[in-house]
Amino acid sequence: MARITYVNGRYALHDHAMVHVEDRGYQFADAVYEVLPVAGGRIHHLDRHLARLERSLAALTIAWPVRPPVLPLILRRVVELNRVRDGVLYLQISRGVAPRNHLFPSDTPASLVVSAWPHKGASAEQVEKGVSVVTRPDQRWKRPDIKTVGLLPNLLARQSAKEAGAYEAWLVDESGCVTEGSATNAFIIARDGALLTHPDDGRVLGGVTRSNVLELARRLGVEVGERPFTVAEALAAREAFVSGTTIMVLPVTRIDGQPVGEGRPGPLTLHLRTLYQEAPPPVTKPRAIVFDWDNTLVDSWNCIQESYNMTFRHFGMPEWDMTETQANVAASLRDSFPQMFGERWLEAKEVFSRSFESIHLAHLRPLPGATEMLRVLRDEGIHLSVVSNKRGGFLRKEAGVLGWTEYFGALIGANDAIADKPAAAPVILALQGSGIEPGAGVWFAGDSPIDMHCAVNSGCVPVLMRSDPPRPGEFDAHPPVYHLENCASMVTLVRELAVPISTI
Ligand code: PDD
Repeated sequence: MARITYVNGRYALHDHAMVHVEDRGYQFADAVYEVLPVAGGRIHHLDRHLARLERSLAALTIAWPVRPPVLPLILRRVVELNRVRDGVLYLQISRGVAPRNHLFPSDTPASLVVSAWPHKGASAEQVEKGVSVVTRPDQRWKRPDIKTVGLLPNLLARQSAKEAGAYEAWLVDESGCVTEGSATNAFIIARDGALLTHPDDGRVLGGVTRSNVLELARRLGVEVGERPFTVAEALAAREAFVSGTTIMVLPVTRIDGQPVGEGRPGPLTLHLRTLYQEAPPPVTKPRAIVFDWDNTLVDSWNCIQESYNMTFRHFGMPEWDMTETQANVAASLRDSFPQMFGERWLEAKEVFSRSFESIHLAHLRPLPGATEMLRVLRDEGIHLSVVSNKRGGFLRKEAGVLGWTEYFGALIGANDAIADKPAAAPVILALQGSGIEPGAGVWFAGDSPIDMHCAVNSGCVPVLMRSDPPRPGEFDAHPPVYHLENCASMVTLVRELAVPISTI
């Protein structure tokens, strides 16, 4: 299976995923990153990783490369495309590409790279026996709380640890205290039973695993001290461990060749590891979904093709086959007919509407799983509405015949708002009275480029819903952030979603 990496708007084959030679991440390490855990196909602790990312970006005044709510959807897509069940997601944001200059460029978009790969985490042997660490001077810059890709001192320490036969290097500051590991946070359980780790005071990276472990320990009633500890205290400790996204909680049994406690993984360490593995991921979902109608919820192509051809026959014009129909039908009649029928467009609109009215109910079929999907989404408390370029009267009649009216807060068709899709006006109208504003918590689900365009125009999340994958170039202007193959995929996603969009 081909590995896929996201680079600045494209899902590229990994081997062809490139950034420019003048990317500031490459030239200056002017970039930040995150490593997120994926377990059971879900991204865990996303909200905490994104909160830290936001802090890193703010500290360096690097702009978001995409709107923040879109990022989780890109992350999830990369996990899916690479079929990662248990592994890691890597994301990197640099200040962008600009001629080499120490000063920040103005008006340069930030670069975004996202990749994912399987990773097994710590090995059974590492957990059973524990790992050894060696101490090394902390030679990093004075802002290790910012998660920048400028990791050279960390690499030197880690490599030196490996050469000394150890797993990790514990970094020691001028006062003889352990700050953290080269790529992990450091903990000890002191003689008196207190769990100690360096405070998150700007001199360490505030590890997501670190915060989670501290929360777990406090819930267990363990005394937690966020204070620096010396190498001597560590050597005298009962237990020691390191924490990090990939290894979670990993026992440390030797420090500079000396055994910690009895030289075996400690009981509290192993208990914390077990609890950590069992902690459930957060699950959230969109607050509202705005659906397109034709070929998103109902199977309409035959009916639409036939209505167009009845109209063309009336005017003695050549008819469309299905490919032409699918390629040409998207805009509302008021937006598309003047160009197609010139001065006689109003007459054509009448013929089309009469033709459509005479056959549409006979052709009406829900797409497989659509009724079940609407029921599940409604029961999940998601506000549902429709924005279609079909005339409002026809749309509402079809919904009534299908028994779907009760599912929707509003069914907005062509001419109902001051402008039709892809304008934002019908989306705003569709959400009116729901207390939900168009934006990050609202998905726009549809089957065509005009739907993705409308999603972007209204600030909602564009979700492509159809069995066909995007054709080359089809969505270049307004790419979907998500592709769901059918109604059942939407149900699965919303039920299993571990993306806390509301917390961003
Ligand atoms: N490293 N301290 C440092 C210096 C780190 O680089 C990391 C993570 C951690 C642990 O943070 P978290 O629990 O959020 O993973 C602490 C990542 C995994 C890396 O660079 O690969």
